[in-house]
Amino acid sequence: MARAKKAPPEKSGARTKHWRALDAAHHIHPFTQTEALNREGVRVITRGKGVYLWDSDGKKMIDGMSGLWCVQLGYGNKELARAGCNALNTLPFYNHFFKTTNPWTAELAAMLAKLLPDGHEHVLFANSGSEGNDTALKLIRYYWNLKGRPEKKLHLSRTLSYHGVTMASASLSGLTPMHTQFDLPLAGFAKVPAPYWFGAKAAGFGDIGPEEFGLLIARETEKIIRDIGPDRIASFSAEPIQGAGGLILPPSTYWPEIARICKENDILLHADEVITGFGRTGEWFGSTTYGIEPDIITMAKGLSSGYQPIAAVSLGERMGEAIATAKEELVHGFTYSGHPVACAVALKNLELLQRQRIVQRVKKRIGPYFQRRVKEVFSNHPLIGEVRGIGMLAAMELVEDKAGRRMFAPQRNAGIICRDHCFNNGLIMRAIRDTMVLAPPLVITEDEVELLLKRAKLCIDLTAHDLGVG
Ligand SMILES: Cc1ncc(COP(=O)(O)O)c(C=O)c1O
Repeated sequence: MARAKKAPPEKSGARTKHWRALDAAHHIHPFTQTEALNREGVRVITRGKGVYLWDSDGKKMIDGMSGLWCVQLGYGNKELARAGCNALNTLPFYNHFFKTTNPWTAELAAMLAKLLPDGHEHVLFANSGSEGNDTALKLIRYYWNLKGRPEKKLHLSRTLSYHGVTMASASLSGLTPMHTQFDLPLAGFAKVPAPYWFGAKAAGFGDIGPEEFGLLIARETEKIIRDIGPDRIASFSAEPIQGAGGLILPPSTYWPEIARICKENDILLHADEVITGFGRTGEWFGSTTYGIEPDIITMAKGLSSGYQPIAAVSLGERMGEAIATAKEELVHGFTYSGHPVACAVALKNLELLQRQRIVQRVKKRIGPYFQRRVKEVFSNHPLIGEVRGIGMLAAMELVEDKAGRRMFAPQRNAGIICRDHCFNNGLIMRAIRDTMVLAPPLVITEDEVELLLKRAKLCIDLTAHDLGVG
């Protein structure tokens, strides 16, 4: 029999205890060791405004990660809330299965077609980046079936890539710890190397420069394609910048070469823009930043500033043409594909990004300011081996030996030590291995960047002290 839950108590300490107990008893967290978390006690986030979050004890934190790389417009945006509320009050749900659409879905599809790279005139909706990528892979398979090339079924992607957690998108992901528990990857997935220049020395490539490394990795990709046989390969999936794998920025030589290789081998290029979409790099899409011309694009996160779960998959000319004119039913779709409330919020989000010229601001003003200041603050720090970034994305590599680009042994837990100092000092900064990552809301002000970097500097100094560096 279900037990009645007591109302939360009045005092903040007692409220925190109450929610922690409920959470510990009933909630299993994503990407978390449940037992260890429950011993430590979960943090209860209760409120957000602008670039700040508050926990249930009233502690205020600056969110250097936009939630999970998604809150482009920051927290507490009233226009987004009103747009969602209006749709909830007008049409809280209807589907698109029965020859129906709704105003928000149709408008959002048209708005995306306007903002997307040329040729991307058609979109499908899903509810998360993972579902978006699953959808993309299914459409890629369908495309080759329509073209009479059913033998083209293998999906290539990169080591250290992150594409989500469903069976197919986890198989596509190159972060190997995601595979073992679930007997993944599925058959039909193969990996090529990531253009991770900072890690090249540790990986045995010696003192190679980034541009030469970019070419070398692209050529290694070409060799793997030749070995497998291009006739068997359906697609190459890649984030324009690898996010959750450690903010890996491709050397400038990498993407042009990959584009050539995909073209020459008739391999569909699938850009996973779940992080890089909607202004993060200073353009609407990371593909534009890197001159990539994808056949298919997955987007989510910044599409609604994270206010509603929604993803979209857009089809470039050849896929759009084949699929939109097929003389049969497309046997795919989710109950909530193009949910009216999610579409209404996403539509308003895109309107606000345009009206407030936020993407241009990232390109011309706040992005360059953020990049300059991160480099000024951290380039000479003894614990930081490399500062890299673009737009509103930045990464700092914590290293044991700066001159020799020598990383810490994993058991030193450098990244986790730093992340914990950040939480304790009112900053959310993500640790990916020993790479500290920042991706603040696009609406952050110059003064807020200064505050964020002041806290980040304090935490990196504390980490250096703990690790005996400097
Ligand atoms: C590049 C990329 N693709 C896909 C996903 C999966 O998105 P979701 O968590 O919404 O399923 C993520 C999530 O971080 C991502 O960064």
